[in-house]
Amino acid sequence: MNCHDFATPVKEKLLEKMADVLPKGLNSIQLYSDGSTAVEAGIRAARAISNRHEFISCFRDFHGKTMGAVSLAQMIRGDVFSYGPTRNAGFYMVPRPDPYRPVFKKSDGQIDTDAYIDFYKQFIQEGTVGNVAAFVLEPAQGWGGSIFPPEDFFPKLQQLCRENGILFFADEVLTGMGRTGEWLCMNHWDVVPDIVTLGKSFGNGFPVTAMVVKEKYADAIDRISASSSYGGNPMACAAALASIEVIEEEQVLENVREVGAHFMQRMKKMKEDHPIIGDVKGKGFLLGIELVKDKITKEPFDEAGKLVYQKAFAKGLAWIPAGHILRMSPPLIMDKKHADMGLDIIEESIAEVEKEFGYQ
Ligand SMILES: Cc1ncc(COP(=O)(O)O)c(C=O)c1O
Repeated sequence: MNCHDFATPVKEKLLEKMADVLPKGLNSIQLYSDGSTAVEAGIRAARAISNRHEFISCFRDFHGKTMGAVSLAQMIRGDVFSYGPTRNAGFYMVPRPDPYRPVFKKSDGQIDTDAYIDFYKQFIQEGTVGNVAAFVLEPAQGWGGSIFPPEDFFPKLQQLCRENGILFFADEVLTGMGRTGEWLCMNHWDVVPDIVTLGKSFGNGFPVTAMVVKEKYADAIDRISASSSYGGNPMACAAALASIEVIEEEQVLENVREVGAHFMQRMKKMKEDHPIIGDVKGKGFLLGIELVKDKITKEPFDEAGKLVYQKAFAKGLAWIPAGHILRMSPPLIMDKKHADMGLDIIEESIAEVEKEFGYQ
């Protein structure tokens, strides 16, 4: 099992396969055994590539529970994560666009992407010491509640990063390898990040993760001495390789797109029919239903969120709570029949909760 960082035939095959499915030029890869370690490596690689040390990340994004990763994340549950100052020096946080709850909006109430970009521009100039190595983001917030930014956000953010010599680091531990119907979620916007982290779907449950940098930055992998004891062991490589092959052979990405669209269609109808559903969101199989006390005020309905989870769980649906946003990331092989079974349970549970709170 332990070949340290040596090349093995199965690792070679995996790396070749990854270079095939990832965007062109994104092919310098280091393997690890958990997402947090891959994120740490991405942080160190960003410093090595840029010769800078600061980082900007976003409120409510999640990147793991090691100290560097915690420094990129918000103070929610901060005590649980770090018992002390939550963030290392030089790590800054900014708001990111949530189309349902925009901080910056136009006069018609719609989200104003340019205002976010302008804010970041000013923040880079005035809120940092001018030494920002990378902007680190989840393509869509996972634990934050399946929140996707507006379509023009990432292309504009990448442009801003380029203008300021800042690397663009997409943490795709959750969103990568098929979750949203593309190999990388960033493919939806034709944005090729400088640094990417992969996990979860990458090994289809087996502990194997990756930190990937663009080919032109390959020497950073050596310069940060990127290896770990178990990262890229033969079993892990075999699991990741098999996952990618099965995704291709069984047309799993197509399934995620098709059944994901079906989910969304039903969720939109649910939004019309239910007074406590304020918003439905997602791409592919990263989905969210946002519960509110009132569709006009959009006040988050945390109590309802908790109850819906409990009721659905009691009816046989296993999932993980995320406050007032019912967050769904079903198995990538889920078919329409099982999607409908799951949504039936969720809708039934929502209706019961509405009744209990006197909505219907
Ligand atoms: C976006 C993102 N980054 C990093 C991590 C950390 O991965 P791990 O729990 O494997 O350390 C997670 C885990 O949920 C994640 O969702």
